[in-house]
Amino acid sequence: GIAPAQRAGIASLEAAWQIDSTNSELLRRAAPAQGADILLAERQSGGRGRRGRAWSSPLAANLYLSLSRQFGGGLARLGGLSLVAGVAVAEALPALGYDGVRLKWPNDLLADGRKLGGILVEGGGEHAGPVRAVIGLGLNVRMPAAAAQSIDQPWIDLASLRDGTPTRNAVAAALLDRMLAAFDLFDAEGLAPFLPRYEKYDALRGEAVSVLTGNASHEGIATGIAADGALRVRLADGEGVFHSGEVSVRRVG
Ligand code: BTN
Repeated sequence: GIAPAQRAGIASLEAAWQIDSTNSELLRRAAPAQGADILLAERQSGGRGRRGRAWSSPLAANLYLSLSRQFGGGLARLGGLSLVAGVAVAEALPALGYDGVRLKWPNDLLADGRKLGGILVEGGGEHAGPVRAVIGLGLNVRMPAAAAQSIDQPWIDLASLRDGTPTRNAVAAALLDRMLAAFDLFDAEGLAPFLPRYEKYDALRGEAVSVLTGNASHEGIATGIAADGALRVRLADGEGVFHSGEVSVRRVG
């Protein structure tokens, strides 16, 4: 890790009883000049996933948290940020007794091949200079049966992975500690230090994948992550490099 004096730290930490979306709320506010604003919610009335999907956010069941901070280096940097957040979460969970969590590019947390959580990075700014990012994390801790019915993909929660689920506060503290340190390092050094760390959790590497871009489908073998965070795929006619936001990926193997 890096020395505490280099850490940008927490500008504010707030827990809301209910909110539309922790990402939306932080996007409505200005980013702190220094450090990170952190917002957790007990429940979200309009939790959002990627591609406009709803994120099931029942009361006092799971973790819904967002972090807002500035990064140097311009807009192009934001692409790798969801990978950095994923690495931080994947590295924090073993200390809580959960091994075997994997990352499915660009933003899924998997356990047992099913979705344990997801990351939604939003924000913007100029092409050069500082950009503001809001990094949202939803992590299934103990999904109530009633809420589970509306989830349209295979999912899993911490409670079904082992006995003795830690409190949501304990999970949040461990994750935030890792995320804050990871974002400081990312701001200072970019994505490079995270590429070998990501590799350990890469659920797609070596797998047959189908990448959808617009209305085209590209079949190949995932070979890892490029320096800018793009997904690399060996296709029949050469290598494909796919950027977050323009594709979705399905395991076909
Ligand atoms: C995905 O897998 O599509 C990303 C899901 C991100 C969900 C989290 S919950 C906290 C934050 N607030 C939101 O509305 N979304 C993110």
